[in-house]
Amino acid sequence: MTASPTPADLEKLAIDIAREAGALARRRREEGVHIAATKSALADIVTEADREVEALIRGRLAHERPDDGFFGEESGAEPGTSRVTWVVDPIDGTVNYAYGIPSYAVSVAAVEGEPDPTRWRALAGAVYAPALGELFHASLGGGAWLRAGDAEPRRLAVAAHAPDAGALLATGFGYDPATHAGDLARVERVMPLARDIRRIGSAALDLSYVAAGRLDGYFERGLNPWDHAAGALIVEEAGGRVGGLPGGRPGTALTIAAGAELFGRLDEAIDGR
Ligand code: IPD
Repeated sequence: MTASPTPADLEKLAIDIAREAGALARRRREEGVHIAATKSALADIVTEADREVEALIRGRLAHERPDDGFFGEESGAEPGTSRVTWVVDPIDGTVNYAYGIPSYAVSVAAVEGEPDPTRWRALAGAVYAPALGELFHASLGGGAWLRAGDAEPRRLAVAAHAPDAGALLATGFGYDPATHAGDLARVERVMPLARDIRRIGSAALDLSYVAAGRLDGYFERGLNPWDHAAGALIVEEAGGRVGGLPGGRPGTALTIAAGAELFGRLDEAIDGR
């Protein structure tokens, strides 16, 4: 690959690596999952597979793009000398993975600028759910796409308007029990907009499903940069909006994703305005 890759070059590499990493995650799941440690809270677990899959991704990137930075959930950050940093969640939806629920995904994003979601510009991303056989991907200016099995890639577009019956929304509750009451109060505030609520258990898939029009909107507090780096670009390239606290970028305080019309209503309801 050349020293100055295009977003499409980075997207292709993200896809290849996500596929390889997803195949390893799936194989390890079939062999049996071992919890290696707990992290920020008792409910926040890391499996041996999370670590092994991240090591595979990190090794592949070091080989293919040795000058780029790396920012991964399990092995931390290492700055590079190029303008590109790879933001990686080896298994997003680790609790689903540990319980044998197939909604987990490898998330690989290439961003430009500081590896801080309030500052970076996402260039490419891939979200691969190996147990579901679905790969969502996007590059800046190149659209968002879904590849399922051997079918031709399908271009994604967010739902333009929430139906009269109300929006199908997804959210999540993070691992810190101290935040659950606030999160539930937020759900109560948005319920008048909703036909129903989903809790899928993988932020990367929640965002990809908004891009695919399978969900009308998604909101969650407490996400880490690797949870939303690839998925947020996929939503934007599918014509949707992604934001955080009022007027801000997506981040730990809040991530919201939806089509433009619903986004404004969701933003107001979440905030209690
Ligand atoms: C988690 C998932 C989950 C979300 C949590 C994340 P992990 O990521 O995305 O849906 O509710 O906040 O931490 O821990 O499985 O990589």
